[in-house]
Amino acid sequence: MAQVVLKDLLKTYGNIDVVNRVSLTVEDGEFVALVGPSGCGKTTTLSLVAGLLPLTGGEIYIGERQVNDLDPKDRDIAMVFQNYALYPNKTVYKNLAFPLQMRKLSKPDIERKVMEAAKVLDIVHLLERKPRELSGGQQQRVALGRALVRDPRVFLMDEPLSNLDAKLRVQMRTEIKRFHQDLHATIIYVTHDQLEAVTMADKMAVMNGGVLQQYDSPAEVFAHPANTFVAGFVGSPAMSLIPLEVTGAETSLTSPDGWSLKLTPENARKASGATTPKVVLGVRHPTPRVHKAATPGAVPGRVYTVEPTGDVTFAQIYLGAHIVIVSLDPHFPIRPDEPVWVEFDQSRIHLFDGVTQQALTLA
Ligand SMILES: Nc1ncnc2c1ncn2[C@@H]1O[C@H](COP(=O)(O)OP(=O)(O)O)[C@@H](O)[C@H]1O
Ligand SMILES: [Mg+2]
Repeated sequence: MAQVVLKDLLKTYGNIDVVNRVSLTVEDGEFVALVGPSGCGKTTTLSLVAGLLPLTGGEIYIGERQVNDLDPKDRDIAMVFQNYALYPNKTVYKNLAFPLQMRKLSKPDIERKVMEAAKVLDIVHLLERKPRELSGGQQQRVALGRALVRDPRVFLMDEPLSNLDAKLRVQMRTEIKRFHQDLHATIIYVTHDQLEAVTMADKMAVMNGGVLQQYDSPAEVFAHPANTFVAGFVGSPAMSLIPLEVTGAETSLTSPDGWSLKLTPENARKASGATTPKVVLGVRHPTPRVHKAATPGAVPGRVYTVEPTGDVTFAQIYLGAHIVIVSLDPHFPIRPDEPVWVEFDQSRIHLFDGVTQQALTLA
């Protein structure tokens, strides 16, 4: 397997930079998820790496080699797409063997490679079947197998699970993760599903509008989102983001709705780094405490909806004009429209610059 380096990758259509100077390094054997909302440039980025589209600018290295001008077939990559593109009239065996025949491998070599891949993916018993005789998950495994027999230096996968139903998707997620662990494969995996990225990848590259927003381990991205976009994209339900203003000598965050939150010295120092008094408060659902009576330091609100899920109950609470989502013990008595008081845990809130949208940190 190989390292992949993207340097200032640029793809322009007309005057729109759909991939806007993306730079990142995928280490040898690493599983990197390219994640972001629909249209943010994930497929375009992957197609550039594959060589299916010409670059507008930048450089791509696979291993030691700069591959900018190499044909896709000379880049030693294997792609797995959402629609598996299996040959419908060939058996599974022949689907796997075909790319090797094209490369003029000997018959015994082909047989050995096909059997190896079939064993890894547990499809030996399916080799004589045609694709239509397979379930969605089995077809997906054959598609992976067809990528695997080619001994690529890098696997490129574009939303490979999005055609599967929810349950199978979760199961295949585990299998692809296992596939990665067993093979120590270098994988770039495109998905719009942040949960897939968080659960599967060593690192996630969060994109928006063609621009790389943050590139780090899922744990780091979750704990320290670089800006409000990442904060709102990673985690479910999303982090609540409330625009406020810094006021007072003893620094507080004040809402135009009339409530305010006195900051701890540490958070006050963070807030003082903002370019203007505008600061966005970020709150993850498990962190606030909800009270049924007025409590010093807690912010008055009104319950909007209550959504039990079994393990936890989510409540949407209006603090003035803005909603904060909290998760509660399912036994906590709470009803829509009742008044509550929300107490933020200041060691776990996030603060963002209200203008640049970047995280406010110390140092
Ligand atoms: N051939 C093209 N011509 C013009 N715009 C394109 C072309 N291909 C993709 N785009 C635009 O580039 C953006 C990124 O597309 P894509 O990489 O497919 O996004 P994603 O895979 O993240 O959903 C989108 O706004 C899309 O409309
Ligand atoms: Mg896409």
